[in-house]
Amino acid sequence: MSNYIDPKLVPQKSLSNGDQIPCIGMGTFGSDRFTPEQVSGAVAGAIRCGYRLFDCASVYGNEHLIGDVFKQAFDEGVVTRDELFITSKVWNDMHGRGDVLLSLAKSLKDLKLDYLDVYFVHWPFANYHAPGCDGDSRNPDSTPFSVDAFMATWRQMEKLIDMGLTRHIGMSNMTIPKLEAVLPLCRIKPSLIEMELHPSFQQPELYDYCVAHGIQPIGFSPIGSPTRPDRDKTPDDIADIEMPEVAEVAKAHGIHPAVVCLKWAVQRGQIPIPFSIKEPEYVSNLRCTTEDPLTEEEMARIASADKNCRLIKGQVFLWEGADDWRALWDLDGTITK
Ligand SMILES: NC(=O)c1ccc[n+]([C@@H]2O[C@H](COP(=O)([O-])OP(=O)(O)OC[C@H]3O[C@@H](n4cnc5c(N)ncnc54)[C@H](OP(=O)(O)O)[C@@H]3O)[C@@H](O)[C@H]2O)c1
Repeated sequence: MSNYIDPKLVPQKSLSNGDQIPCIGMGTFGSDRFTPEQVSGAVAGAIRCGYRLFDCASVYGNEHLIGDVFKQAFDEGVVTRDELFITSKVWNDMHGRGDVLLSLAKSLKDLKLDYLDVYFVHWPFANYHAPGCDGDSRNPDSTPFSVDAFMATWRQMEKLIDMGLTRHIGMSNMTIPKLEAVLPLCRIKPSLIEMELHPSFQQPELYDYCVAHGIQPIGFSPIGSPTRPDRDKTPDDIADIEMPEVAEVAKAHGIHPAVVCLKWAVQRGQIPIPFSIKEPEYVSNLRCTTEDPLTEEEMARIASADKNCRLIKGQVFLWEGADDWRALWDLDGTITK
């Protein structure tokens, strides 16, 4: 079987302004395990296989090499810029006044692009941790979420749209209380919100909230991130690909449980951005959106398997005095204005 999947066969989603985006993309976070060369090599292979959406970020430390891959693909006529949908994200240490523009300029330079399709605020805090740090690592300068601080960052994001440097702006790692506080203040609303979504962590309230507000959810760690950094692993974590509901559906279709997670995601309506540097994996991840859909019963079975099991808890972003990761997600009943 050919490794090429015609991008025209991959379903598209419409954003609130009518722009089209593929229903699946490729993630590019090497999880402190895969080198920038391995990740950019996978992006090169993925473009040739038919991927058109790539989820990048400055903190992933590989945008310069991914940019070389994009440039080569354009130069060789494999794809044109307007056929690709490319995201990047401002990291937590670049929320200050004027820094968002600098951060975007650096990502554009590294990615060798004139504009992005989406620029996200990666986390709604300016709390920074060093790349590759361990789970107990804390930054003494970290502070709780602040509407004023977030909106100061968002005002800079809105200017990037005015300047034509990105087509859309988005948020990531948000909660409903935070969105309730900031959405009424936005001059330009987010077109997309990136959030953790997989069978054991479906976030139905946040998902429905986004859809009701015309915001497209992008689902990160859609396979349950089996290769996530060690700092993000805890003993109670559930492995999505081992869940009986997922494994049984996989058996019925003769596919890997990882692929079931992706079919479920696409059919539900979020845009999954699975990561893999292995060609057979990333090819099947794209192909699965074009064939053999899950039945309504299978979709319902997986919907009922939600375990509210957040994997990317973000504890390294905690501030002095808040020692439980739930504070980051407004589960302690407070939100700081
Ligand atoms: N906005 C944010 O804060 C945020 C946070 C986390 C992630 N993200 C984004 O989301 C992307 C994806 O998330 P993730 O990397 O955490 O996790 P993921 O995509 O859920 O899991 C990736 C792992 O799944 C396995 N896999 C992939 N396809 C497979 C297949 N067909 N069959 C079997 N195994 C397969 C691979 O493991 P093996 O190598 O062992 O095969 C791969 O390393 C990231 O790369 C990043 O772009 C964003």
